[in-house]
Amino acid sequence: MNKPVDPALMQAAEATGSRFTMDAHWMPFTANRQFKKAPRLLARASGMHYWDVDGRQVLDAVAGLWCVNAGHNRPRIVKAIQDQAAEMDFAPAFQMGHPKAFELAERVAAIAPAGLNRVFFTNSGSEAVETALKMAIAYHRVRGEGSRTRLIGRERGYHGVNFGGISVGGIVANRKHFGSLLAGVDHIRHTHEPARNAFSRGQPTNGAELADDLERLVALHDASTIAAVIVEPVAGSTGVLIPPQGYLQRLREICDRHGILLIFDEVITGFGRTGSAFAAQTFGVTPDLITCAKGITSGTVPMGAVIAKQAIHDVFMNGPEHLIEFFHGYTYSAHPLACAAGIATLDTYADEGLLTRAKELEGHFADAVHSLKGEPNVIDIRNLGLIGGIELAPIANQPTKRAFDIFLDCWKQGVLVRTTGDIVALSPPLIVEKGQIDQIVDTLRGAIRRAA
Ligand SMILES: Cc1ncc(COP(=O)(O)O)c(C=O)c1O
Repeated sequence: MNKPVDPALMQAAEATGSRFTMDAHWMPFTANRQFKKAPRLLARASGMHYWDVDGRQVLDAVAGLWCVNAGHNRPRIVKAIQDQAAEMDFAPAFQMGHPKAFELAERVAAIAPAGLNRVFFTNSGSEAVETALKMAIAYHRVRGEGSRTRLIGRERGYHGVNFGGISVGGIVANRKHFGSLLAGVDHIRHTHEPARNAFSRGQPTNGAELADDLERLVALHDASTIAAVIVEPVAGSTGVLIPPQGYLQRLREICDRHGILLIFDEVITGFGRTGSAFAAQTFGVTPDLITCAKGITSGTVPMGAVIAKQAIHDVFMNGPEHLIEFFHGYTYSAHPLACAAGIATLDTYADEGLLTRAKELEGHFADAVHSLKGEPNVIDIRNLGLIGGIELAPIANQPTKRAFDIFLDCWKQGVLVRTTGDIVALSPPLIVEKGQIDQIVDTLRGAIRRAA
């Protein structure tokens, strides 16, 4: 039953020209009751900004949700989507194709690390993760090592919300309500070492040896049972954990030694966030499979993808030619609107040099976020490319509240940040200007002081 609409909501409804109550929409990853008492409703966006339903301008310090890398409502991308909608709305994904799917796959392969040149489209990061996990297990089976079914994730990892992803993921709140999850999964330990690494600029110097935890699991389970290891090169949703120097290299070496596939989940790091197209290139470590999403269309149309080494793809390409090689796919894989958006997005990135812009701005961004050291309750600051994490001491017995209060305060001051636990995360669109970085950090500084 609908509750009476309160006056603030009526006003919001009128502003957007729609009539609604707040009841029906069960919001994802949201404190629904708190939100519905004091809604934060966005109405439009352009460049670095949102405007709320009251017409208030808000600077976007998180690229929407780590996805709007090219900035909002970029004309070229908007037009590509509009034109595609008018030309062809949908094309069946199974046993049929359309030219833009092939064009986008080629364009993605062209900017991916060398050797990763086969692209399987999905509709989200979560689906990309499920696809990569299935691909890894099936790959071993097709090449005659069917005993390799075990999947290894990492504590504090975030790999979306589907059952494979939460099984290999390591965020307790995302796992504990959902039963026994996928069988045959284990986790290496996380890389958060504040005692040794607090306030590191860029990659922490200590902790490469944490990768050796994989050897412990190999000794426990035997390599012949392990299909793949999945990690985020920079862990985002758990609160921005930057890999220690040498850590990813060591993980790669251990995987190679034992015939284990290495999957980089680049859903947030892909498409320029760390200063290269992919974090694999920033760190100089090439995985076997990359999962990506978000920035592939700059958040405009849902899309994800798995980018596979050709050698993995080719293993599947045997048997009679009329038979399907990989029994997997989504109705909306390579959706025409997403492909059109993706091509226009990659054009925008290329024309404006956005895939490497984070590298150019990294120094200024690092100076700005590290200037928060010494502010009340700031216990760690982490950064890489255009990613920043500011960790706060929790309020006693009220974990997450301090960061959430800061988030609300920043929103009131006209800056959209994001929090996870007691960590504030920053990931502005790659078009951000230095002055806007300063505005974000100054607003955050004020909010941190007020929350003390
Ligand atoms: C590393 C990583 N993997 C997977 C996902 C899930 O992506 P989606 O929300 O598009 O399903 C995310 C989302 O933030 C992510 O950060």
